[in-house]
Amino acid sequence: MQWKPEFSVGVEAFDQDHKILFDLVDQFEIAGTTGKSREHIAAVLDTLVDYTKTHFKREEDMMEKYGYAGLQAHRHAHSRLAKQVTDFCTLYEGGDTSITNDLVAFMNNWLQIHILDEDMDYKEFLGGKEV
Ligand SMILES: [Fe+2]
Repeated sequence: MQWKPEFSVGVEAFDQDHKILFDLVDQFEIAGTTGKSREHIAAVLDTLVDYTKTHFKREEDMMEKYGYAGLQAHRHAHSRLAKQVTDFCTLYEGGDTSITNDLVAFMNNWLQIHILDEDMDYKEFLGGKEV
């Protein structure tokens, strides 16, 4: 999946993060479907999970900086999603690589929900401000 202009949340740094996240999901899909080693696939997955957490922290820090009213709700959404991703990864790393496609579909869907349902809520308030 590709980032599209309508995904823009009005904060350049976060648009960049979202592009990188889509890219990492793609890399994971490629690694998982082209017969790469388990170690390689696990390394891509780790990078994806780490970047997700870094991105969430960056968003929360900015919300805090400007006193965004939706911070608590957003924080909850972030920790819920981070847990889902981590659970999925634990399953994946513990066993069957045939779930690669499910995991890719989940990640792409999850990323779209994160951007379009949740991040769009802060667009008006944080858009154009300094991170
Ligand atoms: Fe985001």
